[in-house]
Amino acid sequence: MIDLSILLISAASILLLLALYIVVDGPRRTIARIVFHETVEAIKSFFMNQTKEQRVLQYVLDNAVRGDPQSVIDSIDTYCSQKEWAMNVGDQKGLILDNVVKETDPNVLLELGTYCGYSAVRISRLLKPGARFFTVEFNPAFAAIAKQIIEFAGVNDKVQIIEGNTQDIIPQLKKKYELDTLDFVFVDHWKDKYTDDTKLLEKCNLLRKGSVILADNVIVPGAPDFLKYVRSCGRYDCTNYPSVLEYMTEKDALEKAVFRG
Ligand SMILES: C[S@@+](CC[C@H](N)C(=O)[O-])C[C@H]1O[C@@H](n2cnc3c(N)ncnc32)[C@H](O)[C@@H]1O
Repeated sequence: MIDLSILLISAASILLLLALYIVVDGPRRTIARIVFHETVEAIKSFFMNQTKEQRVLQYVLDNAVRGDPQSVIDSIDTYCSQKEWAMNVGDQKGLILDNVVKETDPNVLLELGTYCGYSAVRISRLLKPGARFFTVEFNPAFAAIAKQIIEFAGVNDKVQIIEGNTQDIIPQLKKKYELDTLDFVFVDHWKDKYTDDTKLLEKCNLLRKGSVILADNVIVPGAPDFLKYVRSCGRYDCTNYPSVLEYMTEKDALEKAVFRG
């Protein structure tokens, strides 16, 4: 028996988000659209007793080829562009990510925000033997999905998931994970943490001259404080890579910030 209050709250949320979608414009309209999709998916998940991320995993298991990272990436892109939107970096910005990883040719890498492991698989498939790659995720359910996707893709020897909050994990990287400095950092967690975590990387001496920070979603949802910081503090050389939001047509961009040392 479905609780009437859940039905009423669901209906009210959908109406509120629809109203918001009609009233606002620009990037806020895109955010309202994403929140609307996420709310509908959360309600769907409640009734199906399965989360969207579990459905993404199931689609990979049913459609990708075990041990073939590219087929895992393609399957996730197909599912998320045709069935349910999800916050992976996606196919278009993924190509920019690929190029920046290739030109950096990193030995030691960090990702902030694993989610289902899409970008971790994307990055892992480009790494040379001996490279060390850590990806941090604080949601245990997402970390568990990512673990299975990474294993299925056959790149589990190239990337290690660290479960926890970036604010707690970053200060542990040197001692507990025996890192010196990072060559490449993909910043893709909650946008209000971008600046604090960049400053924390600096404070923990994890950046060296030439370390590359690549930040996703600097337009949508947007990271204005981060952009202001890296572009004006005098410690970084910045490049903006315009693109589109994952699986949508709205403008988004990646920002590369190279540490001057
Ligand atoms: C946009 S998704 C990451 C997408 C992923 N990089 C990809 O492209 O496939 C952001 C993820 O960051 C995680 N996250 C947000 N803030 C975090 C924090 N402070 N510490 C660890 N994980 C965080 C969220 O749970 C979410 O899974």
